[in-house]
Amino acid sequence: MIGCLNHVAIVVPDLDAAASKYKLILGASVSKPQELPDHGVKLVFVELPNTKIELLHPIDTNSPISQFLARNPAGGIHHVCYEVDDIEVAAGTLIEQGAAILGDGKPKIGAHGKPVLFLHPKEFFGTLIELEQR
Ligand code: CO
Repeated sequence: MIGCLNHVAIVVPDLDAAASKYKLILGASVSKPQELPDHGVKLVFVELPNTKIELLHPIDTNSPISQFLARNPAGGIHHVCYEVDDIEVAAGTLIEQGAAILGDGKPKIGAHGKPVLFLHPKEFFGTLIELEQR
């Protein structure tokens, strides 16, 4: 079902400082910060040859990212995102197999304008998984 690793999302306490560190110390190619008000986050993309790292920071205190940062003040890996060919087919298969899809179980439009769904970390060894349609 899953294909390429689309991105790894890391929540950071200071977006500019994190972006600079990736750029200056790791020599990575880093995008300008973008705000996604619908998702309650500001983010920077670190472009790697084979995938992306997303550095995330909450823009309001209601965002789940804000709760994550409260529990992990130094930051931490928030989720990994795998690509699937067809999100509806993926959702159907997962529901059939009893996997816990977060929310109402229906795919939503994610941070890149593509349909996504999230799988509960308890079922995947402590890792929040995002599936994104290619
Ligand atoms: Co993501």
